[in-house]
Amino acid sequence: MGEIVRLQRYIAMCGVCSRRKAEELITADRVKVNNQIANELGTKIEIGADKVKVDNREISYRSKLYHIMLNKPKGYITSSSDQFDRPTVIDLVSQDIHSRVFSVGRLDYNTEGLLFLTNDGDFAYKITHPKNQVEKTYIASLKKPLAISEINRLRRGVKIDDYVTQPAKVEILDSKTNKMTIKITIHEGKNRQVRKMIEAVGSEVSELKRVSVGTVELGNLPLGRWRYLTAHEVNYLKNM
Ligand code: URA
Repeated sequence: MGEIVRLQRYIAMCGVCSRRKAEELITADRVKVNNQIANELGTKIEIGADKVKVDNREISYRSKLYHIMLNKPKGYITSSSDQFDRPTVIDLVSQDIHSRVFSVGRLDYNTEGLLFLTNDGDFAYKITHPKNQVEKTYIASLKKPLAISEINRLRRGVKIDDYVTQPAKVEILDSKTNKMTIKITIHEGKNRQVRKMIEAVGSEVSELKRVSVGTVELGNLPLGRWRYLTAHEVNYLKNM
C-alpha cells in the first residue's frame, strides 16, 4: 500500500503549488480524485493508487525537488503568468530548470532581492505559514528621513489598512537631510507591507530590496541570477 496523505499535501508534494493554494483549488471544485470532484479539505488519498487531477490534468509525484534562491530584479512579477504579459520571475530560471517551479511568497514588481523558487510545496508552506513567524529583512531607501519617534513607531507596530503590524526591528544605515536608508525586519508578509508601514509614518519607499529570510542571506548573488540552496539551508528552512 502507498503512503496515505491529505489531498492538499499531495498536490503540494507534486509541485503544483503551495499547500495553501492547493486548499483554494480544492474548495473551488478544481480537483478530482478518481474522476470525482473532491472539494473537502479532509480528503485522504493513497499515493500511487488514487488518480488526482487538477483542472482536469492528472498530476504525479516527482521525487526531484528544486530549492532555488533568485536575486529578483525590478520589473519582474512574482507569478507564473501575467495579464499584461510582463516578464515573470519564472522566465529568469526557465532556461535551466525544466520542472515547474513557483515562488515562495511574493515580492512586488518594483522590489528586488531574495526570492525562493521551488516545486516543493512542504518547503513553501513552512516558510510562508504565519505561525512560523519567519523573519524577513529588507533594505529600504526612503524619500524623506524619519525622526527617531517615527522609527520607534515602526518598531512598536503601525496601522496599515485595518491591521496593526507586529513589532519590527529597525536600524538606520544612513541618514541625510533629504533621504534615509534603513534595515527593517518583519515577521509577517502582508501585501506591500514595508511600503505601507513607511507611508504610515510619513515617508515613502524609493528602493526596496529583501536581503535575508531567517538566517539565509542573499549575499553577493548578482541581480537576475539564481543558485541552488545548499542542503544545510534547505534543512534549516524546513525545520524552522
Ligand atoms: N514589503 C513590500 O512593501 N514589498 C515587498 O515586495 C515585500 C515586502
